[in-house]
Amino acid sequence: MRTRIVAGNWKMNKTFKEAEKLITEIADALDDIPLDNKEVILCPPYLYLEMAADVAEEANFSVGAQNCYPADCGAYTGETSPVMLQSLHVDYCIIGHSERRKYFNESHEFLARKTDALLKHGICPIFCCGEVLPEREAGNHFDVVKKQLTESLFHLSEEEIGNIVIAYEPVWAIGTGVNATPGQAQEMHAYIRQLVAEKYSPGTAENITILYGGSCNAKNADELFSQKDVDGGLIGGASLKAEDFISIVTSL
Ligand code: 13P
Repeated sequence: MRTRIVAGNWKMNKTFKEAEKLITEIADALDDIPLDNKEVILCPPYLYLEMAADVAEEANFSVGAQNCYPADCGAYTGETSPVMLQSLHVDYCIIGHSERRKYFNESHEFLARKTDALLKHGICPIFCCGEVLPEREAGNHFDVVKKQLTESLFHLSEEEIGNIVIAYEPVWAIGTGVNATPGQAQEMHAYIRQLVAEKYSPGTAENITILYGGSCNAKNADELFSQKDVDGGLIGGASLKAEDFISIVTSL
């Protein structure tokens, strides 16, 4: 059965004290929400992962990182390895976010290596894909997403792909206040699931979790999450306020 997920990608926001407050508020609110087969993941900046993981021990959320480097250890100044994340009980890691593709020139091949490195250490990659506006306007959005998945994920075995979460984040919807319509999200999610079915099997495709990201908020989450192939959301701006984030969780 598919796990439904709401994950908060805090990006580069919050001081330590602010982060502590937000995490505590979210943890307290989650105590009163039955989650069943649903999962809440908080992805704060690296510096706050240990604190988040400590709170998570007694709370109903998991912790994710926003990035990693694909090596166990070594001379990679400023980088953080999956081994280190694992040692802090970090269970998820976002990779392939469009901001990292854009500002840090991350290639499909590099993301394939990150995927392998995370799986090797039992951390679930949350793999982001999505097109920029000119690609959608040119009608190339399906091809763009297909290439991203094919070149970074489709070398995996069927068992391995079963341990991946995919997040469809159309770049034109990120931080813009303009979300994909529920119809646009459903169409792309169904396409992604179809690609997984063709490459692996219908059963594996049925079980894979596909999140929507891009201006998802307390107002539109209900409608987006009610789409057949939308299994939850990867939330940016609206994950920075406990009230908004919790409201999104209740839409799951
Ligand atoms: P916003 O929700 O701020 O549009 O960001 C989405 C995102 O990039 C999540 O990874």
